[in-house]
Amino acid sequence: MDWKSGNDTILAFDELIKQKRVAPYEGRLKVGVDLGTANIVVAVVDENNKPVAGATQGAHVVRDGIVVDYIGAVDIVKDLKRQLEDRIGVDLSNAPAATAIPPGIIEGNTKIIANVVESCDFNVTNVLDEPTAAATVLGIENGAVVDVGGGTTGISILDHGKVVFTADEPTGGTHMSLVIAGAYHISFDEAEEMKIHDDESKIFPLIKPTVEKMAEIVRRYIDGYNVDTIYVVGGACEFKKFESVFEREIGIKTVKPVEPLLVTPLGIAFNCKA
Ligand SMILES: Nc1ncnc2c1ncn2[C@@H]1O[C@H](COP(=O)(O)OP(=O)(O)OP(=O)(O)O)[C@@H](O)[C@H]1O
Ligand SMILES: [Mg+2]
Repeated sequence: MDWKSGNDTILAFDELIKQKRVAPYEGRLKVGVDLGTANIVVAVVDENNKPVAGATQGAHVVRDGIVVDYIGAVDIVKDLKRQLEDRIGVDLSNAPAATAIPPGIIEGNTKIIANVVESCDFNVTNVLDEPTAAATVLGIENGAVVDVGGGTTGISILDHGKVVFTADEPTGGTHMSLVIAGAYHISFDEAEEMKIHDDESKIFPLIKPTVEKMAEIVRRYIDGYNVDTIYVVGGACEFKKFESVFEREIGIKTVKPVEPLLVTPLGIAFNCKA
């Protein structure tokens, strides 16, 4: 199967979030909760992994997989859950849910992430690695999936459908914003705005060294594995030139799905164990 066939599903999910709509569904609903460094996303899919509804909010309650504000995290997830319940017209309490962690975080932190989701009356059936979740949506059997989020660059290497390696390093979109803030002597929040809304031709030269560093991380990890394609996801790879820097630095074909920010959250919902 071509990885691009996942694009239609991702686009459908994006529309549902933006238009606050519910798609017709079949069977039991499954919930994915992505507690990201920059964004919290709750995805609802049906038993055929068709997107049903989704809601998202910017948040700073989790940092690189570590919950820094437990009450704040629970409040936001509960609020997103309530919005989705109102919209769909069902009680999602005890619905099968999944959540994800950056690869390699210690077990205690994994437990806390799961506890946040359980505290919102979801039934956590699976906690998986973020890039592994993304790989499910892309339907790929081989290659490296790199999730460049707000806080970290996570990588999963797949070989014949099996995850053979995972790792995570602290370089993400936040670091790009810090560079912009430093260059223009502006606050972090102003730099975030500028990074997302200003012309790429103005921003990209500034953050290119950060992208090169991400590529160097990935190059180091995939060395020795048989990888012919790198799939990049996560909000920080939204730049048009992102893949070309990876290709040049690593020497491996690099591709990006539509709406890379939503791939991991959707994949988390796909990975609920019914
Ligand atoms: N259009 C855009 N252009 C550039 N960067 C963007 C854009 N949209 C979002 N970002 C950046 O993407 C990052 C958020 O991505 P994402 O939602 O994948 O991260 P996260 O899951 O919250 O974080 P993590 O996975 O590291 O915990 C932020 O740094 C944000 O500034
Ligand atoms: Mg993420």
